Amino acid sequence: MNRRAFITALGAVATQQGWNRLASPGSGLAVNPLQSQPVTTSRYPYLQNVRTDRASILWATLEAGLGQVQYSSDGVNFKTVVARSRFFSRLDPGQPSHDYVQYQADIAGLSPNTDYVYSVTVNGAPVQAGGDLRFHTAGPGPFNFLVLGDSGWGLANQTTEQYMIAQRMLGERPVPAMIIHTGDICYNPDGTYDSYQQHYFDYYAASMSSVPFFPCPGNHDYLFLNGAAYLAIHAVPTDSVPAADRGRYYSYDWGNVHFVSLEVMQSLDQAVSGNGPMLRWLDNDLRSTRQFWKIVYFHQPPWSTGLNESDPVALKGRAFVCPILENNGVQIVIGGHNHSYQRSQPQRNKTFVGSNVGTNYITSGGGGAILYAVDTNQPIMAFGKSAFHYLRTEVRGTQITIHAIQYDGVEFDTYTIAPAPAFSDDPKVTPVTLSPGPVAGATIRIIGRSLAAEETFLCTPTPPTTMAGTTVTVNGQPIQLLYVSPTQIYALLPFAVSGNITIRVTTANGFVERAI
Ligand SMILES: [Fe+2]
Ligand SMILES: [Fe+2]
Repeated sequence: MNRRAFITALGAVATQQGWNRLASPGSGLAVNPLQSQPVTTSRYPYLQNVRTDRASILWATLEAGLGQVQYSSDGVNFKTVVARSRFFSRLDPGQPSHDYVQYQADIAGLSPNTDYVYSVTVNGAPVQAGGDLRFHTAGPGPFNFLVLGDSGWGLANQTTEQYMIAQRMLGERPVPAMIIHTGDICYNPDGTYDSYQQHYFDYYAASMSSVPFFPCPGNHDYLFLNGAAYLAIHAVPTDSVPAADRGRYYSYDWGNVHFVSLEVMQSLDQAVSGNGPMLRWLDNDLRSTRQFWKIVYFHQPPWSTGLNESDPVALKGRAFVCPILENNGVQIVIGGHNHSYQRSQPQRNKTFVGSNVGTNYITSGGGGAILYAVDTNQPIMAFGKSAFHYLRTEVRGTQITIHAIQYDGVEFDTYTIAPAPAFSDDPKVTPVTLSPGPVAGATIRIIGRSLAAEETFLCTPTPPTTMAGTTVTVNGQPIQLLYVSPTQIYALLPFAVSGNITIRVTTANGFVERAI
């Protein structure tokens, strides 16, 4: 299907739903004829920065006015948030052929793991939607997220696969918590406001109203005014990011996953030359999370094959970013840039190891742009395919399964990561300590990784022997748990022990034990 057929297909959907015109590539305009004083939508509402307690909703209309979002968790009682707005002129570089106003409503005080519906107005008139106006806040429990990269090629003969991937993502059930974009969001032209409208929003609008995108920028996004349009259209998390760098890199939690999105076009150079904080921030950020999973994504993959395998930015990432990631136990690193799907051997400090202790480097750059070849003969490669695809990633406690799905629906790779518990191998750390000793009432502290699915503690007269799926035995007898987290356990020894002491930690992924 070329772009004309794609637009026609979307137009048919719009007609079915009673819209007058679709916000289509080239025009970007839509008018609701039912309103007496209609506003003209130039960009359908889309979600950003959905978290446990907040969400941002952005959209654009031709008219300036009072932008508002009404939202509700029960469909009866609505609250209203006033949006801030920003004018964009058609006379500025990279803009479409009309002036427009971008609105952003930041909602706070939300409840975790909760469904909300919302509506959007400007001067009281409804702003048309590209899809369902609803969202689900982050919270504990299992969830799915999708990944795509290098998508908006923008040339007629390359739109088919991007469109088909967009439709498959829209049809995903259960509805994914979020969609990660690994960068190079739009090309031809690279990274302009108009290009984002035509090659990004017009493709994914039906998903973006109910599923937040959490992107990282690619080199093509930064070719236009150093990422000016990318930065303007996104409202990503800003927690703990130095003020000057907000929007470029960030981190956030969903369920028991800590996600980090890096920007390696300018912030990495600045950090490596001692003039920027990103790497320092990254190390602090990864050290301070207590989540079981750490997933980091940035555009140029440090380990992958193909046209861009020796990209200087990728090699710089390998030299300066990977040690921080691997030392902090990051299990999954995702990139784009090589237009294909690839999965590395799990590794740590440039040594191949099991997936229970290693970092898995995934490349997902087959979202629609012209494909590159993959060299599956290189030892680093565990699997690769030059294919238009997206990833469905299922987070289930201490297991993550990645499904690579081709644009035609064929699943061509399935990979499960289930890190087993491990004691710390840091020579400066004593992984198991009994205080004051092997006597009844002693406290046992265990330091390691993958020890429990999530941080949990209970203050009860009789502490449980299983917490967050973790049990600890001493000489085969379960002991009471006071606190568990992925990296630490505090437990009570209710009986005295003499002679050999064998301590075993068991999770859904296996066990680890040692005699002390
Ligand atoms: Fe690309
Ligand atoms: Fe790229």
